[in-house]
Amino acid sequence: MANTIQAIRGMKDILPGESSSWQYLEDTLRGVVHAYGYREIRLPLLEKTELFRRSIGEVTDIVEKEMYTFDDRNGDSLTLRPEGTASCVRACMEHGLLHNQVQRLWYMGPMFRHERPQKGRYRQFHQIGVEAFGLEGPDIDAEMLMMTARMWKQLGISDVVLQINSLGTPRSRASYRAALVDYLAGEKSSLDEDSLRRLESNPLRILDSKNPDMRQLIEAAPSLPDYLDDDSRAHFEALCLLLDAANIGYEVNPRLVRGLDYYTRTVFEWVTDSLGAQGTICAGGRYDGLVEYLGGKPAPAFGFALGLERLLALLATGGATLPDNAPHIYLVLNGDKAVHRGLVFADELRDVIPGLRLLANCGNGSFKSQFKRADKSGAQYALVIGDDEAEQGNVVLKPLRSESGQKVYTQEETAKRLLDLLELERTA
Ligand code: HAM
Repeated sequence: MANTIQAIRGMKDILPGESSSWQYLEDTLRGVVHAYGYREIRLPLLEKTELFRRSIGEVTDIVEKEMYTFDDRNGDSLTLRPEGTASCVRACMEHGLLHNQVQRLWYMGPMFRHERPQKGRYRQFHQIGVEAFGLEGPDIDAEMLMMTARMWKQLGISDVVLQINSLGTPRSRASYRAALVDYLAGEKSSLDEDSLRRLESNPLRILDSKNPDMRQLIEAAPSLPDYLDDDSRAHFEALCLLLDAANIGYEVNPRLVRGLDYYTRTVFEWVTDSLGAQGTICAGGRYDGLVEYLGGKPAPAFGFALGLERLLALLATGGATLPDNAPHIYLVLNGDKAVHRGLVFADELRDVIPGLRLLANCGNGSFKSQFKRADKSGAQYALVIGDDEAEQGNVVLKPLRSESGQKVYTQEETAKRLLDLLELERTA
């Protein structure tokens, strides 16, 4: 027999038993972004490779090592999006959404990075991203961070810490970069291989090194905040005051630099200790130069993205019970007349009970086997119609999760009875 084909490493199926947790998470987060007046933008999964090279940066890990890039049938180089910000900027520019306007947008969907898969790190993963264009003050930075804090609150997540930093303007960053290269060049013999490579191409990323042998060297390096320009410092201080006023706790981490090149001024990460090595659940910052860099009129911008797989894992470590979307009712149908009447009756119930989840038995089967299926479906109640009930216009209602006995109702009474029962459940 031929080998069966399996999914690509690092790309996970989301199985029926998991999808309701995803829906719960997506619905909750969608509710939060809508509460702040953001509107959805839907973007293609494929873009021209050039877009990511230019926006994320040639010498970042993503562009150097992680993109799924291929030539299409016309010979154009295309890339599966590794993130959403670049596409969002491209789409806004292409459709004239940035001209003298403020835009507050969000998107959701899969991203692709050819990283080494491990717990919390996948090659296809899912983000919700939020971007605001046309606002340069620290108020939008603060509002977005408040939005993230509200997300954690709504999800019942508390073991996360907000780290913030300012990268300054490209100019102040350049003077910091020069000082850092000076310092590191004097310590070349202590640099690991990765850092030696980055010394030329992207020295700020050395600050991000996870190698414990490098820790001391990094601790003693020049500090980014000492090189901040006055405007960036004022912006950062104003942001801190706004966060204080909103009662949002944070740690200033002067070594936080982020792995994408487009950031200016504020950068942040929400991190947790509960997930092992992949502890960043949400990250972003300001990218005031990107629109102009990609050929548009200058437009300040701020945004972030959160990783849905990591958030779900965090919810699981907290022992949260997530809704499972099991049907409320399993409809047992025994006999031809019962099937004829029952399928129509099921739709009548769906008409009058909004939100009802009713799973009707198909494929016949004895009462016993149908009750087994009913039990397995997770339904709270069975409705039972045999040929006798079909003829008499009756239905038997049987609780599946309690000892209380079954009762017979007319088909007209059933909807009202179910409305009462399900309403009772909702408010209990
Ligand atoms: P990022 O830090 O590359 O930023 O990704 C944001 C989040 O996506 C991470 O904090 C993490 O939760 C999740 N994530 C990233 N890579 C993986 C992976 N391989 N497996 C699972 N989860 C992952 C961005 O993507 C920026 N576009 C954020 C942004 C929006 N900045 C401004 N606007």
